[in-house]
Amino acid sequence: MMLRENQAMQNLPPYLFARIEQKIAEAKEKGVDIINLGIGDPDLPTPKYIIDKMAEAIYDSANHQYPSSVGLLEYRKAVAEWYKKRHGVDLDPKTEIVSLIGSKEGIAHISFAYLDKDDINLVPDPGYPVYNIGTILAGGKSYFMPLKEENGFLPVLEDIPSDIARKAKLMFINYPNNPTGAVASLDFFEKVVEFAKSFDILVCHDAAYSEIAFDGIKPPSFLEAKGAKDVGIEFNSLSKPFNMTGWRIGWAAGNREAIEVLGRFKSNIDSGVFQAVQYAAVEALKEPEDHLNQLRKVYQERRDAVLEGLNKIGLKANPPKGSFYFWVPVPDGFTSASFAEMILEKAGVIVTPGNGYGEYGEGYFRIALTVSKERICEAFERIEKAVGKVEF
Ligand SMILES: Cc1ncc(COP(=O)(O)O)c(C=O)c1O
Repeated sequence: MMLRENQAMQNLPPYLFARIEQKIAEAKEKGVDIINLGIGDPDLPTPKYIIDKMAEAIYDSANHQYPSSVGLLEYRKAVAEWYKKRHGVDLDPKTEIVSLIGSKEGIAHISFAYLDKDDINLVPDPGYPVYNIGTILAGGKSYFMPLKEENGFLPVLEDIPSDIARKAKLMFINYPNNPTGAVASLDFFEKVVEFAKSFDILVCHDAAYSEIAFDGIKPPSFLEAKGAKDVGIEFNSLSKPFNMTGWRIGWAAGNREAIEVLGRFKSNIDSGVFQAVQYAAVEALKEPEDHLNQLRKVYQERRDAVLEGLNKIGLKANPPKGSFYFWVPVPDGFTSASFAEMILEKAGVIVTPGNGYGEYGEGYFRIALTVSKERICEAFERIEKAVGKVEF
């Protein structure tokens, strides 16, 4: 029997973390105690008040049936109330919010609902790989918008050729940004709204890290920008702010027409989020501030430990304003991959090579703040011992 995957599957780039996972496995086989600063999955547990709600909801047999694919109204209302409180944004829970099985699901599927063959999406580079992957699987093409340090890791909209912009259907942006840690201003979002209006582009803002920022920064929502709901939607999820990556619950909110289209697409291919999880998410979103303040404190301590560690080994980097990633230029004489490999071999420390996030990620590596401060300090002690300062 000859099984043949389709062209889109063949066009997929290799899954970034698969390669890293293979390297970890090899090192582990050799008995190395690996410190993994590579993966963006919170190490801390889901707060107890959320687990308690889940425990209660799971015994209710009404929650054992198929959920609606757009989400319980109660969940969508909780999201709307959260937007009002956190961002001062009004949303109609019935028509402007749809539940997602984690934001990744919606980010990947939005391209299927909007692209015809060879249609263009504007995609940030470096960026979360799913923007490009969803585009490819849907038969489209990505036009990569470089995110350069000298521009604060924001795309320069004027640099997008107008023939590309005219053909583009979607634009993905993501702030606080993975992998660069940049935070965008409302002013930037307003420029994006104007750009999208003039080229009829649906803006898809990925706000997965909206609640994780440092030094008192409160990252704005794209939906706070004037006219944003005319041109865009925002993806967010419970994963990162509530340490709930395994629970799989998120949302898309904003432009009514796009929310209806995404909801209709989903109703044909999935059956929504387990209702008990939705009730737990409602609980999570009600009074999140105590938990979030504590979480930000932990990440800030870790961020400062990384900064100190980098100084110790002679590497310079601007600390992130948000997200839980540190984006660091590799020392002279290394590529992203050769540096990451050297650190793994000599110190047993995993960092993510920046080129895995796109061409413009070359020359950087990413550290995730998802291990304890003690392990971060140990990682830098090991690196210093193994390679010292002078080589950099
Ligand atoms: C930028 C960004 N967006 C979205 C996601 C997806 O998160 P989830 O599907 O858990 O909501 C991630 C996960 O790492 C991410 O880094």
